[in-house]
Amino acid sequence: MNKEKKLILALETSCDETSASVVADGRAILSNVISSQVPVHQKFGGVVPEIASRKHIENVIPVVDKALQDAGITLQEVAAVGVTYGPGLVGALLVGIAAAKALAFAAQKPLIGVNHLEGHIFANFLAYQELEPPFLALVVSGGHTSLVHVQGYNQFHLLGQTRDDAAGEAFDKVARVMGLPYPGGPQIDKLALLGNPEAIHFPRALSTHGSHEFSFSGLKSAVLNYLNTAAQHRQTVNYADVAASFQAAVVEVLAAKTVEAAKECGVDKIVVSGGVAANSCLQSILSREAVSAGYAVYFPPSVLCTDNAAMIASRAYYKFVGGFTADLHLNAVPGLKL
Ligand code: KG4
Ligand code: ZN
Repeated sequence: MNKEKKLILALETSCDETSASVVADGRAILSNVISSQVPVHQKFGGVVPEIASRKHIENVIPVVDKALQDAGITLQEVAAVGVTYGPGLVGALLVGIAAAKALAFAAQKPLIGVNHLEGHIFANFLAYQELEPPFLALVVSGGHTSLVHVQGYNQFHLLGQTRDDAAGEAFDKVARVMGLPYPGGPQIDKLALLGNPEAIHFPRALSTHGSHEFSFSGLKSAVLNYLNTAAQHRQTVNYADVAASFQAAVVEVLAAKTVEAAKECGVDKIVVSGGVAANSCLQSILSREAVSAGYAVYFPPSVLCTDNAAMIASRAYYKFVGGFTADLHLNAVPGLKL
């Protein structure tokens, strides 16, 4: 089987998921094992870096073993080993990098360092077999909010990003003050279904035409002020309305700026990725606006929106065929840019 296909084994340990995956020719997932640390970090209300590193050390080898087993292959059958080397938590990244180096060295296979943000974009190649660049990508995760013109498989142009909080970070922080568990994004998404998105007008920052930058910290402060003022006046708060109104403010800006950037790039496709791409309101509003402006729009299924190694394997495959391999000096770059 698989003789002529190029199989990539990839590892992802940049934050709080330990994941390993085998992907064929950058497009077909043979396995995608994700060991989530969410229950471990939940009691702290967010990711504790030191605990994340320790959990990755415990999990990384069993997760790799399971990924190879689920794919029905041995390490010798892989063409290359890919690994996320940034951006992310330095200790967490180093665990994946050390493991990937050891596997590549032992099996005498090329090592490929992958940018986590590029990986998020490539999740869409796994979900949509016909999808090809060029397109406009919106990456919305817990750490990033970026608009990227993807001109080719190895050619990216960053148009703009957030000046302060990432969209997912704003979701998590607002959820936390509302007493919802970490990660807050999915909780707000669910609660917002019961609320009125027009109940409270929260600010839409940097919504001027032509700016590809985002800012969510003012919005987060506006929600905190709203809740504090209500508490001081002993007013009861409709949390579903707060969730729906906050979410509407985030989504409106994301959707408008994404469609505007797509127009400017002259592409006909919009690709969304990262944890916040799983948001139901973003999916419906951005799909509606993009389609009415004449764009095809792509969202990965939820499991490929949040962190996973399959997207890293897809990205690694295209670097591998482009000749972009790393050596055993590959190091973690916590602030790695696109
Ligand atoms: O991509 P990801 O798994 O990790 C990073 O690279 O940051 O994204 C995690 C982020 C968290 O902030 C989480 O709250 C958010 O994605 N998220 C969501 C939803 N699902 C996950 N935000 C809004 N709505 C969702 N349904
Ligand atoms: Zn991510």
